[in-house]
Amino acid sequence: VTAAATAVALTMSAGTAMAACDDGEIVVKFSHVTNTDKHPKGIAASLLEKRINEEMNGTMCLEVYPNSTLYNDNKVLEAMLQGDVQLAAPSLSKFEKFTKQFRLFDLPFMFKNIDAVDAFQGSENGQAMLDSMQRRGLQGLSYWHNGMKQMSANKPLINPSDANGLKFRVQSSDVLVAQMEAIGGSPQKMAFSEVYGALQQGVVDGQENTWSNIYGKKFFEVQDGVTETNHGALDYLVVTSVDWLDSLDPAVREQFLTILGEVTATRNSESTKVNAEARQSIIDAGGVVRELTPEQRAAWVEAMKPVWEQFAGDVGQDMIDAAQAINA
Ligand code: LMR
Repeated sequence: VTAAATAVALTMSAGTAMAACDDGEIVVKFSHVTNTDKHPKGIAASLLEKRINEEMNGTMCLEVYPNSTLYNDNKVLEAMLQGDVQLAAPSLSKFEKFTKQFRLFDLPFMFKNIDAVDAFQGSENGQAMLDSMQRRGLQGLSYWHNGMKQMSANKPLINPSDANGLKFRVQSSDVLVAQMEAIGGSPQKMAFSEVYGALQQGVVDGQENTWSNIYGKKFFEVQDGVTETNHGALDYLVVTSVDWLDSLDPAVREQFLTILGEVTATRNSESTKVNAEARQSIIDAGGVVRELTPEQRAAWVEAMKPVWEQFAGDVGQDMIDAAQAINA
C-alpha cells in the first residue's frame, strides 16, 4: 500500500463523496492539489464530477482526488502519460518540462486582472497554446481560472526591498525564480502540499499565491500578513493525454468535452468572486491584509518588470505584444 493509497483511503473514510464506478464505465481519475470548498478549482472539479456522473451514467465515471491525495503536481503529468490518471488541472507554471509557451502567464504584471487573462486565452494565440504539448503526449482542453497572486512573508512587505534576503517558496517555474531574485529574495521550488509546513517551520519566509489558496491552505496563519500586490496570474490548464482522448468513441468524447466546456464557462465567470470571498474570510479569521498605495505598487512593478526581458526569447516578443494589446 503506497502512501498515496493510504491517504486516499483515509480521505474516503473521512466521508469525502467518491462516486462508485460501475462495471463497464470508463473511469476518469482527476487528480488535483487544492481544497474543494471556497476554491475556484475545487468547486469546478466537483461540478464536473457531478455533471459527468449524472449525465454520462453508465458510460463514464469521474473520480476527483483533491488535496494532493493521489499525486502532487510534480508527478501527475508523468502519471498521466503512463495512463494512471486521466485528468488534471495543474497551474500554467507547472508545464515547463513540456513547453515554454506558458511562461508568458508567469511574467509579473503581464495581465492586469483575470478578465485580461481570459481574453488572451480565448484569442487565437491562447487557443493554439492548448495544442502546444501534443508532440509530448499531452492535450490541453480548457483553461480554468484561479486569480491574481498576492505576496506574504513573516514580516510586513510594503516595498520590494522588504523582500531582500527572504526565502520564498515558488511553484516549479524558472520565471517565478527570476521574479523572486529580482526583488532580492532566495526562491525555492516546492510542492504545494509542503508549503504550510515549510512556512510554519521557517524553511521559507514567504510565498506568493491567490486569496483562495492562501485561505484554503491557511498560509495566512503562519505569515505576518498578506500584501495585496496582484502582481501575477495563477491559472490552470485542464489537461489529458492525447492517447486517452483518442481512445474515446467520438460521441462519448463530444459529450465529455461539451460538459467540460459548460463547466468551464460557468465556474470561470465566478472565480474573481470566489477569491474576493476568500480574501474576506482571511480577514474574518484574524489574518492581516495590507493594501499598497499606487506609488508603493509602482515600485514593485519597477523591480519585477526586468524579468520580461530574460524570457522574451522563450515566450516570443509577439506573444508579449499580443498580451499587452489585450491588457490595454
Ligand atoms: C501552487 O502550487 O501554489 C498552486 O499551483 C496550487 C494550485 O493548484 O492552485
